[in-house]
Formats: sequence, C-alpha cells, structure tokens
Amino acid sequence: MLTLAKDSLRTDAVTITYNRQIARNYECDRKIEAKRLDDLVKLIFEHTSGEGRILDLGCGTGVFTTLLAGRLPMAVTGADNSEEMLAIARSKPEGRGIDWHKEDAVKLSYENESFDVVFMSNLLHHFNNPLDIIQQCARVLKPGGLLLNHFGALEDIIKDPDHKFFEKASELDVRRTPARIQMEYLLKSAGLTDIGSDKNTYKLCNSAAERVKMVESKYISVFHLMDQISFQRGLSRLRRYAESNQFDPWLREITVTTTFGIKPC
Ligand SMILES: C[S@@+](CC[C@H](N)C(=O)[O-])C[C@H]1O[C@@H](n2cnc3c(N)ncnc32)[C@H](O)[C@@H]1O
Repeated sequence: MLTLAKDSLRTDAVTITYNRQIARNYECDRKIEAKRLDDLVKLIFEHTSGEGRILDLGCGTGVFTTLLAGRLPMAVTGADNSEEMLAIARSKPEGRGIDWHKEDAVKLSYENESFDVVFMSNLLHHFNNPLDIIQQCARVLKPGGLLLNHFGALEDIIKDPDHKFFEKASELDVRRTPARIQMEYLLKSAGLTDIGSDKNTYKLCNSAAERVKMVESKYISVFHLMDQISFQRGLSRLRRYAESNQFDPWLREITVTTTFGIKPC
C-alpha cells in the first residue's frame, strides 16, 4: 500500500515534521565553514558586549548552538519543538553546558526581556506568518538586545543547485522564503532598529559528489515537501551535471544572509 507523508498531500504546506528519520540524517556531511562562524561571532561582538544569555531558536540538532557555545562567553539555550532533533543535540558531548528546551516558536514560554541575543538559522521559512516568530523574539529580547536571522534569501537560493535543477523547489520556496529586503522589513515591523544584512558565500561541502550525497539525503526541507517524481527528475539532472562538472565551485558553495536588528532601549 502506498503511504504518503501528511504534508505531501497539501499544496499549501510550508513546513515538515522533523521526525526521527529526518533528525538522524540531518547532519549528513553538513559542515559549517570556520569563516561562517567567525562572521556570526563578529556580528555579535559588534552589536553587544558578548555577555549574558543567547537563545538559538529552532536549534535543531544544535549545529550552530554548540559552535556558538564554543566561541561565546555567554549562557547558551537551544530551543526547538522537535524532541527528535533535540535528542541528537542533547547527545553531543560539546552540548553538555547548553540548556536544551522543547519550545514552540509561535508561543515561547520565556519571560519578557530574558535574552541578550536571539539567533535563528533556517527557521522562518517554516511559518506562514514569520512576523509572529520575530515578534516573539523581540518580546524575549532585553532592551538593547540583538536579533540575528541566518537564512538563504530568496534571490540567492533560487540560483543555487538545489533550485536550478529542482524546478519544484523554486516553486515552493518562492512562496515561503523572503528576499533580503523583505526580511529587513519584517524586523522593522517587529519594532527593531539598526537593521542590516550581512551576505556571504561559504563552502558547503568538499566535492560535487558530496553535494549530490547531501541532496540524496534531502538535507533541506524543500526536498521533503516535493513529490517523488519531481525530486527524482531533479536528482537525475543534478547527477548528470555533477558528473561532467566535478570541479565547478558552484556545487560546493552556499550563499547565506544574516539579517540583524536591535531592540530599542
Ligand atoms: C531547517 S531546521 C534548522 C535547524 C538549525 N537551526 C540549523 O540551522 O541547523 C529547522 C528547525 O526548526 C524547527 N522548528 C520548526 N517549527 C518550529 C516551531 N514551531 N517551534 C520551534 N522549532 C521549530 C524544526 O524542528 C527544525 O529543527
């Protein structure tokens, strides 16, 4: 009998359930280039004293949470609504000093003005109304606190291999992923000031073959939202291109934006 994932029947779905299988595969060959972490740490020190409490909202398996904890003299909290993702985060030895919480980003249980920095990475495209989440972040930020949203802006991701070879991915992400200017506007609408964006291209993986492997593991949520026929069609195109263009740097890169803003005092 054919069983379909709940979301695959819906044409308006913007999110997936981060279940045990997705959690287990999530970090497949996913590497964070040292420069990417350096850039985030630099932004935090440029806009805050780097002390106090930081929240990584939608922390998943703790990829960024643990790296930030290793670099910042701050008390670190990782929050996510998926027990399965949090279980992986909690099992990491480098995550021992971190507070891991099950939280729904739509309705955070934290008191007002609890954190000096709130960081999010690849979370907001999971919501029909991302402003709700940004407002929650603004609420739990202390006055003078910093919000950082690390994400693939629409104008960049539609040119990447995950979207060029997978037409369905573009179709889906056009509906759920803001452009840089829209993200800045969302932060402004939540009352934040001193808004800016830092855009950079980083190494995502070491080879064309590794990129294909990441896509095969459906390393980003848009691959779980599309039907199997569209996914397999795109995968064949990507494999063909990767075989004959093994040294094309485009296959090893990712362009990411960090949009930031300050909660006024
Ligand atoms: C693409 S993953 C990003 C994980 C991590 N930030 C990273 O960059 O590796 C999105 C994460 O958002 C979490 N998430 C989705 N909806 C959420 C919600 N309503 N509240 C809290 N977390 C949520 C998912 O469980 C998942 O771990």
